[in-house]
Amino acid sequence: MENLLREERSFPPSPEFAAQANAGPDLYERAAADREGFWAEQARELLTWSKDFTEVLDFSGAPVARWFGDGRLNAAYNAVDRHVEAGHGDRVAIHFEGEPGDTRTVTYADLKEQVSRAANALAALGVRTGDRVAIYLPMIPEAVIAMLACARIGAPHSVVFGGFSAEALHSRINDAEARVVITADGGYRRGKPSALKPAVDEALAKGTPVEHVLVVERTGQDVPWTEGRDVRGADALAAASPEHTPVDVEAEHPLFILYTSGTTGKPKGILHTTGGYLAQCAFTHKHVFDLKPETDVYWCTADIGWVTGHSYVTYGPLVNGATQVLYEGTPDTPGKDRWWELVEKYKVSILYTAPTAIRTCMKWGAEYPGKHDLSSLRVLGSVGEPINPEAWMWYRRTIGADRTPVVDTWWQTETGAIMISPLPGVTAAKPGSAQVPLPGISADVLDERGEPVPNGGGGYLVLTDPWPAMLRGIWGDPQRFADTYWSRFPGMYFAGDGAKKDDDGDIWLLGRVDDVMNVSGHRLSTTEIESALVSHPMVAEAAVVGAKDDTTGQAVVAFVILRADALERADEAGEGEDVVAELRNHVAKEIGPIAKPRSILVVAELPKTRSGKIMRRLLRDIAEGREAGDVTTLADSTVMDQISKGMQR
Ligand code: WTA
Repeated sequence: MENLLREERSFPPSPEFAAQANAGPDLYERAAADREGFWAEQARELLTWSKDFTEVLDFSGAPVARWFGDGRLNAAYNAVDRHVEAGHGDRVAIHFEGEPGDTRTVTYADLKEQVSRAANALAALGVRTGDRVAIYLPMIPEAVIAMLACARIGAPHSVVFGGFSAEALHSRINDAEARVVITADGGYRRGKPSALKPAVDEALAKGTPVEHVLVVERTGQDVPWTEGRDVRGADALAAASPEHTPVDVEAEHPLFILYTSGTTGKPKGILHTTGGYLAQCAFTHKHVFDLKPETDVYWCTADIGWVTGHSYVTYGPLVNGATQVLYEGTPDTPGKDRWWELVEKYKVSILYTAPTAIRTCMKWGAEYPGKHDLSSLRVLGSVGEPINPEAWMWYRRTIGADRTPVVDTWWQTETGAIMISPLPGVTAAKPGSAQVPLPGISADVLDERGEPVPNGGGGYLVLTDPWPAMLRGIWGDPQRFADTYWSRFPGMYFAGDGAKKDDDGDIWLLGRVDDVMNVSGHRLSTTEIESALVSHPMVAEAAVVGAKDDTTGQAVVAFVILRADALERADEAGEGEDVVAELRNHVAKEIGPIAKPRSILVVAELPKTRSGKIMRRLLRDIAEGREAGDVTTLADSTVMDQISKGMQR
């Protein structure tokens, strides 16, 4: 933290970069002079509306905003058809690279045909405007096609990350009441096919409203089949017409639901609508990455299961008519230079990835990027967690040849699109800081009492005015929406992040201030993992904390109290390690492998206050190898000694 404040390096854009950049300093001035007029201009310039809007923002139903409320449009038309109509049908939309090395080139004309067929296939399965469709797919072009096919008929999609378990899929399908699931037999990961369809079968066996499962063939592996319910993707597409008229929807029509972890055990279905979301995705993608659709090759390494994949793989780039790389697999298959091989092969000019990936590449060593010609790169982006200045510098130097601007972009599933970030042709970038709210965005850092902190001070990050891509609520739970985000500082959106303002007033993000962990840029809830642990018959009680980790940012560390009978059994058989392994696997099964604790410590007691609240702060001290801090508020102050002793055993 102190290091952060002493960071004095600054990297202004080169005059050449600034001269050719999409955005100049005037963008901030225009937005400051007339915020709503500015967003209206962007929405008209970047999107094609079937009916123009006359209203810009209506916040009379706060905290639910309406943007461009009386306008009408279709998201898939904006992402696909209009580029073909404008004569860019031959432009590559997606350079797909499968993990085994198979490739596919999808032009905008191809995309139009495939999305249209898929939309007709969904309609044939009974999906109508407004129905929800769950998508559980690997990173293959069909993932993007499925999302756009849903958007084309106005059926909100709910993409569930392919690494989530059947249990997690089941609860998401039921919460959104999805009628159809689109999945694949499997995908390639770490050099071998990894099945997906069995998890769908398991989820549906628990009872859901799903009527059909559309199964894309990717690996060709054998999958269980339920006649009448399951439909082969290839058959459905072949039978469908390649012509489909996109359904015009209101600007506020739901585009998608995406589940994210909150501070309680139950994931929140974050709801995004069409017009404002697309306008801000397109605006940010154009200006933060300085996109030139005719010449750039853009690559965002995020999975479509996360919001970054929604806004900066599917919607932002395609609405802007960009050419992008889509890669199915892991960065070290078959070698640790796979990403850099792809940058060279496709001449990637804009790369958008996460600090955890950058730190992993740092650990592997500069020799891997060093094997390849990376001179096509001209903008580098980072997202998902605070980027430490060392990683930022390595990214710029080793990947960007000390030449490319690096943009550290802060945003959330809830914000829909980038909110705080340097502009590459304008901002003198500081390693480790997201710095300034984008034009048209208002943010501040407040103290406990809700007063803005002066420069040099720290507190809570808030967004002070509504923005076009803001969430419109939590699916089915308006009260939780109001309570979660709008009650801490009335009238303002509280993001859950801590932040500092430096002496120049630039914003430095400091991580979550609530019970949400950030592991490799993935949001995980401590409560959700605790619930998973307690659902195991051996566990009496559990407490989970996020401990600092050099590579993943944070790591999950769990403290569990076993039930007496389980403890006896474990002691007698000397099976302590088996118990830990079993519990780790149990969490993977309940939530997904990403939620597996790095370590699980079996303890006799947990540190609690007199009112029974677990003091996670003290557990974090232990997990990070420190002496436990102030224990005076504990009901039983000897508990921490017992836990520390247990650690040394
Ligand atoms: C964190 C991902 C610091 C933050 C787009 C936020 C960041 C959470 C940054 C949202 C950044 C994201 N610097 N922290 N540049 N970007 N975060 O919903 O804690 O998966 O609240 O959205 O990630 O995670 P989410």
